[in-house]
Amino acid sequence: MAKPRSVYCCTECGTQQPRYLGRCPGCGAWETLLEEPVGGEAEAVPLVAPPPGGAKSGKAVALADVDADSSPRVATGIGELDRVLGGGLVPGSVVLIGGEPGIGKSTLSLQLAAQLERDAGHVLYVTGEESLAQVRLRAERLGEIPRSLLASSETRVEALAKPWREHRPSVVVIDSIQTLRTERVESAAGSVAQVRECAALLSATAKSHGTALILVGHVTKEGTLAGPRVLEHLVDVVLTFEGDRGTPFRLLRATKNRFGSTQEVGIFTMGEKGLIAVENPSELFLAERHPGAPGSCIVPVMEGTRPVLLEMQALVAPAGYGTARRTTVGIDDGRVALLLAVLDRHSEIDLLSCDVYVNVVGGVRVSEPAADLAVALALASSRLDRPLPQDVAACGEVGLGGEVRRVGRLDQRLREAGRLGFGRVLVPAGVLSEVTAPGAIGVENVGQAVRWLLENAPPRKV
Ligand code: TYD
Ligand code: MG
Repeated sequence: MAKPRSVYCCTECGTQQPRYLGRCPGCGAWETLLEEPVGGEAEAVPLVAPPPGGAKSGKAVALADVDADSSPRVATGIGELDRVLGGGLVPGSVVLIGGEPGIGKSTLSLQLAAQLERDAGHVLYVTGEESLAQVRLRAERLGEIPRSLLASSETRVEALAKPWREHRPSVVVIDSIQTLRTERVESAAGSVAQVRECAALLSATAKSHGTALILVGHVTKEGTLAGPRVLEHLVDVVLTFEGDRGTPFRLLRATKNRFGSTQEVGIFTMGEKGLIAVENPSELFLAERHPGAPGSCIVPVMEGTRPVLLEMQALVAPAGYGTARRTTVGIDDGRVALLLAVLDRHSEIDLLSCDVYVNVVGGVRVSEPAADLAVALALASSRLDRPLPQDVAACGEVGLGGEVRRVGRLDQRLREAGRLGFGRVLVPAGVLSEVTAPGAIGVENVGQAVRWLLENAPPRKV
């Protein structure tokens, strides 16, 4: 039988099929399989011959003798980015920055390029998406541009060998990987085969030269790196940029990090002059708060290893005809439905016949169950029209039996709350004996939390 000369490759997840299918069996997406020629699987060779002595020998060494510090990190000069990277860029490493269009990937990579050019040696910025003039305009908005920062609008990977050889950059930024093309593969730029092959060539070159490589990649609306899901195993670090384009907050998370933890989160705001690192996120998220409004409760959540105060808002309104509406923003619908059922069962208030809206302020998404108690209190506060006292926050997971369950790092959360004037925090009663920070008020279950609200929060005066 003749060998098939092409395969069908899913543009969403990279699954390969011998023949065309309407629906990808890998990810379930419709009409994403594209025909691609077979081949190009040969080992990626560096674009530029590695410097003498740089080649790896096949000899095994004692692990104990390996110097873990032999790859010093280069601080990027952007504190929040260094935090997510685990201290800085590792020479020879490959970092993928993913995010939706317009979220700020180009802005971040250009700021990074300018900063590294000042501190860490030559940077080559390759722009396949925008013209050099556009990049220049953007760079001007972002502040002073180092004169030596190199930019190229080349999209043929092979052509990058020349500047790489001539300038020996210590950092190469590719914005974006989907715009590059290599002669080794015939399909169009942005196809899975192209993206994979270009990234493999570039990363082989970066590794053999000790260059840090930063790849920017788009993410589809479903939230996967378009095509480049196939890249995730090839790179050392995957950073994802999140945020609601309507708000200035941007979160940078490491979803994979071979050189550090994936726990850290970098917090930025997008302003007139690009991305600015946020040192005190809680203050920012609470800036527009209206104390004294019912249906609002503050919760200290953990973003990475940092406690951040967020405001949970709820609005409970009498339902019209038909089924009651449930709308949530920034928090899982299922979680809110569960809390409503628990409140209905374990407290005196009736919510099931009401329309319910829940919102996390600032366009952030909360997935920590520690926010449960605050959501429950916000719902009760709105339903009863009783604003929580201004110095009160809440933190705890709510179980199906109505019990308030323990959460981690309570001391850290309480201190952050106290620092911003929330001197009293409702917490799971079970952890009271372990907490050293002041201000903890223990509650056993949701019913008790609602009773606390009734006793301590007078109805709103209108
Ligand atoms: P961009 O970095 O081009 O996004 P991506 O590369 O992820 O597609 O960011 C685009 C948005 O950021 C755009 O809507 C304009 C805004 N922006 C600012 O608000 N301030 C700035 O200084 C810059 C450069 C961009
Ligand atoms: Mg861009």
